[in-house]
Amino acid sequence: MKDADHRNLSWDEWDEMRSPRPKVTDFDVVVEKALSRRGFLSGVLAFGSGAAVMGTGLLSGTSAEAQSATMRRFGFTPIDIQTDLSVHVPEGYSWNVLTSWGEPLFSDTPEFDHATGGTAESQARAVGENTDGMELFNVGGREVIAVNHEYANPETNLPLTTGEVLSAEDALKLKNAQGVAVFEVARGDNGYAVVKDSPFNRRITHDTPMRLEGPAAGHDLLKTSADPEGRTVLGTLNNCGAGKTPWGTYLTCEENFNGYFGSLEEGADVPAEFGRYGILSGPSRYAYEKFDARFDVTKEPNEPNRFGYIVEIDPADPESTPIKRTALGRFKHENAACTLTPDGRVVVYMGDDERGEFLYKFVSNGVYQAGGDTSGLLNEGTLYVAKFYEEGRGEWLALTEDATGMSAAEIAIFTRQAASKLGATTMDRPEWVAVNPHACQAYCALTNNKNRGIKPNAGGDATPAEGPNPREANEYGQIVRWFPENEDHAAIDFVWDLYVMAGNPDVHSDAYAGSPNVTSGNMFNSPDGMMFDSRGLLWIQTDGDDSNEGDFAGQGNNQMLVGDPVTGEIARFLTGPNGSEVTGLTWSSDKRTMFVGIQHPGGSFPSQTGLPRSSIVAVWRNDGAMIG
Ligand code: FEO
Ligand code: CA
Ligand code: CA
Ligand code: CA
Repeated sequence: MKDADHRNLSWDEWDEMRSPRPKVTDFDVVVEKALSRRGFLSGVLAFGSGAAVMGTGLLSGTSAEAQSATMRRFGFTPIDIQTDLSVHVPEGYSWNVLTSWGEPLFSDTPEFDHATGGTAESQARAVGENTDGMELFNVGGREVIAVNHEYANPETNLPLTTGEVLSAEDALKLKNAQGVAVFEVARGDNGYAVVKDSPFNRRITHDTPMRLEGPAAGHDLLKTSADPEGRTVLGTLNNCGAGKTPWGTYLTCEENFNGYFGSLEEGADVPAEFGRYGILSGPSRYAYEKFDARFDVTKEPNEPNRFGYIVEIDPADPESTPIKRTALGRFKHENAACTLTPDGRVVVYMGDDERGEFLYKFVSNGVYQAGGDTSGLLNEGTLYVAKFYEEGRGEWLALTEDATGMSAAEIAIFTRQAASKLGATTMDRPEWVAVNPHACQAYCALTNNKNRGIKPNAGGDATPAEGPNPREANEYGQIVRWFPENEDHAAIDFVWDLYVMAGNPDVHSDAYAGSPNVTSGNMFNSPDGMMFDSRGLLWIQTDGDDSNEGDFAGQGNNQMLVGDPVTGEIARFLTGPNGSEVTGLTWSSDKRTMFVGIQHPGGSFPSQTGLPRSSIVAVWRNDGAMIG
């Protein structure tokens, strides 16, 4: 991009600017009429006839009695909002920085240089930018973290060119600042630190060789001049949320992969199927197409079909080849929440984070057995998409060849189109899914959707304000949860409700005030990252408007809260630096330390001067008790 204003936009802002969704259509008029007939947002009606909302009858959360009840349940006194450039945790807790963008993983790599932000070469052996989903693995008693590096902030990462990608070196540095980092951590006198030169340390970048497996592998649509077999690919793009398999591998999720592709020729035609995914010709965000022809859609039109998958990485084997699991579908993958059915099949819940896109699950054909062969478990199974009905029931629709009229490979490559054919429910940007380890239920953060009730999705599917997405022009978001029939995550039928509807009770008195478990004392917007801890508490991280003004007045910086799935109670635990998103969460093996991701702080962080650096912070209780 030439325009300096565009260099540090969020992905969502940038994508929306480059690939605007359809303008007002006949559909909009129909929706508008329907909404006015319903008296939309006039209190109870807005929640739909049967869409139960969790949290009625809760304590207000502001009285002294409520405060002490919260402290007993969660083990801390909730904190106030903040608007500064630091991290805050409750009294009795402490935090420090585990690592930051540019920190070398190997002792032969130069220390981070605030003047240059490092080189392409140093970046390939250092922690990446924009930390996101992460998991900690216990490998024979050693603790190994795998963490995503979602995207780049060129103005920060390329300070010498103030964000312009002027050379192959600049493009390579951005490629090396993204992907995944794997590194060992160990506890010392000052808490956890990265173990430099550990044999587990590894960087996976936009150029790391990986294998394609599952129904799409070897299909003509995946073949390129560099890979006539359609089975090997370089790199993983826009690694957002993550997941952990029962057999101890890491799942990294390719989200906004579309923005990495472009063409030198402006206005060049692209295949019709690209439209649904927002893949365009013309200049791309990081100008890769100028220096690496595979990112030019006029030269390698199949290359974009090789991204948008979930990639499995073995953190215990730094020599292993990452595998793109095409059976889990191709879309803007947020995270991958794994669980097992009573008979041992693997279920992976997955959100497609775009306005009006869908919620999915994969159920394996094979059964997981500890110590058994797990290499093919994520290659064969059934992909389902969620359909929610108003009255609090829902079902999973199987994306089969019969139902879609598409081949298994086509379903795996053009998953959005397959799901549209079945009439799946258009959602308010499904971000992370989390599965409760103590009850058969799963939660999905629906972060926000300004187009709800206003515009169809990119496939033309209607987005009426109803069911689990009940608010028009939804700027706050909500968390939906579902209870599978027969306590079996493979079941077709489920019952759902809304765990929370975020909102602002100081500004609104209608449905935009939020559900009853949202108060002046705990309010937030745009839930995104979500993880259950081992005790069955739900941690909620936000990626929203942190202006602390207007509709967001009193909500402060992005934050991390904890929710009780039984009572619906929600309490604020941590606030991030202004401008940052709080995303990514994992725990030490003994659950006495929590690792939290701070993505793209808005100013100098963690040091008081110099470049803003995405970081992972460690949080612990001063008395050494477990916190997860
Ligand atoms: Fe990368 Fe949807 O968050
Ligand atoms: Ca996210
Ligand atoms: Ca988000
Ligand atoms: Ca983000």
